[in-house]
Amino acid sequence: MNKPVFILNGPNLNLLGRREPHIYGTQTLKDLESLCEARAITLGVTIEFRQTNHEGVLIDWVQEAMDSASALILNAAGYTHTSIALHDALKALSIPVIEVHLSDPAQRESFRHVSYVGMAATQTIAGLGARGYELALESAASLV
Ligand code: DQA
Repeated sequence: MNKPVFILNGPNLNLLGRREPHIYGTQTLKDLESLCEARAITLGVTIEFRQTNHEGVLIDWVQEAMDSASALILNAAGYTHTSIALHDALKALSIPVIEVHLSDPAQRESFRHVSYVGMAATQTIAGLGARGYELALESAASLV
């Protein structure tokens, strides 16, 4: 049995659909999960889709991915720009890590221009909305 692709989502992404829809769109996290499930089937991969508002939980899941995932897709949301601990956890992985963002942080406030996730990632996909998750999954499937 092949290992799943972990798709991990950080803080406030549980509010998608209600949270700044002019930036993040109207699709809910559940919609994103369904989109990823459907794409995974056509790609012949399985996924493990999760969300947390807690930095330590996200780090625990990244560590879990070390042995239990074939690749990691990560939208660390606000922790992208702050968490050296998350960066360190990602550096311990030898599987592909794809950073994904719905918006393009590089085009937004200057405090979003640093990405500690991106510094440890194989690839970054940003600014493409929900489509970015599908592209990340396609990329993960081609890398594993
Ligand atoms: C985000 C971008 C981050 O800067 C922000 O903190 C988020 C969402 C995105 O998907 O566009 O919460 O990761």
